[in-house]
Amino acid sequence: MPAETAVCQLLERQSMDYRDWLWVAPPRDAWLEEAEGRLLSADHSVVEAWRNRGKVALSALQETLDAPPGAVLFWPKSHALGEWWLLRLCQSLPAGTPLQVVGENNGGIKRVLKVLASLGLGCRKRDSARRCTLFETRMEPVGIDPDLAWTRFEAEGLTLVSHPGVFGHGKLDDGTRLLLETLPGVLPDLDAGPVANAVTKSEAEDEDEATSRVLDVGCGDGILAAWLAPRGAAVTAVDVNAFAVEATRRTLAANQLPGEALESDVYSRLEGRCFDLIVSNPPFHQERAIDYGPAARLIREAPAHLAPGGQLVLVANAFLPYPDLLEAAFGSFQILADNRRFRVYLAKKPNG
Ligand SMILES: C[S@@+](CC[C@H](N)C(=O)[O-])C[C@H]1O[C@@H](n2cnc3c(N)ncnc32)[C@H](O)[C@@H]1O
Repeated sequence: MPAETAVCQLLERQSMDYRDWLWVAPPRDAWLEEAEGRLLSADHSVVEAWRNRGKVALSALQETLDAPPGAVLFWPKSHALGEWWLLRLCQSLPAGTPLQVVGENNGGIKRVLKVLASLGLGCRKRDSARRCTLFETRMEPVGIDPDLAWTRFEAEGLTLVSHPGVFGHGKLDDGTRLLLETLPGVLPDLDAGPVANAVTKSEAEDEDEATSRVLDVGCGDGILAAWLAPRGAAVTAVDVNAFAVEATRRTLAANQLPGEALESDVYSRLEGRCFDLIVSNPPFHQERAIDYGPAARLIREAPAHLAPGGQLVLVANAFLPYPDLLEAAFGSFQILADNRRFRVYLAKKPNG
């Protein structure tokens, strides 16, 4: 199977034995998935695809890495995330392990030279073609803790924890703000405001009875989950990005809120589970490309994950083609808010 992506085509033409190498944060590419390597990725859809082929695939924040003969880092769109990966690899792989870094020229791969120099790592250009460049270096201990990349900020009276590569890193999205302004008017079952965090056991049991099961799809830093949790919702938050899932866990913990957060490609880890409400500010980008795939699955499969009478509430850029998808999945829908840039949609599963 020939390489499909430009970055893999550049690797394919190297006279290198990449057997057993660690592929770090690669795109989906059948050439790689058929090779004899191991995966380290923050993208749960890539991890699942490799595991389905019976291959070793580790999630980004998993602790242990066996010593591979070498590693190839696919430089991400976010340079801060690229730096995190370098620190993570230097921290966990033996000194002297060969490291190659590959990326598209218009994705800023050339900046890697400066980044490696600032970490005291020498580097040479190995090859360039297909508008991509491949650098090589060797891992050395650099003594900087990758955990320093976690940051906190305040929004909507909540402490939000974020990380490079997590959506909206460090600020509240305008679409999310419109969704939060709209939710109280349409969800009378939710409490009007935050309930006290500290409740007695019997109060908690009573509340459980009335609690709505809420699913936040594409949770990012956990803003929706953390806003809903103190309003009587039992929140499950999912994201395909391992950093987002960890950010949501940390956000819930920072605000002393209950809730679970799972790595999941839309509903892939939620088979057989139903919710009273699904909320989302759905993704429509994959790195630099527009990709409606996850949002389309989110809408199409929502009825199967809603209890009778359950509701899907979405916020989206007004130009996105969600009305047709909502119509097809639910038969009808309402527009709850429209500020010309963003719309909030509601679709309801029939009661019976
Ligand atoms: C527009 S952001 C919304 C983040 C957060 N809910 C907010 O309102 O700020 C979309 C989120 O969807 C996540 N995402 C992208 N593809 C996904 C998929 N296939 N399954 C689950 N989540 C996905 C992204 O990682 C990102 O965190």
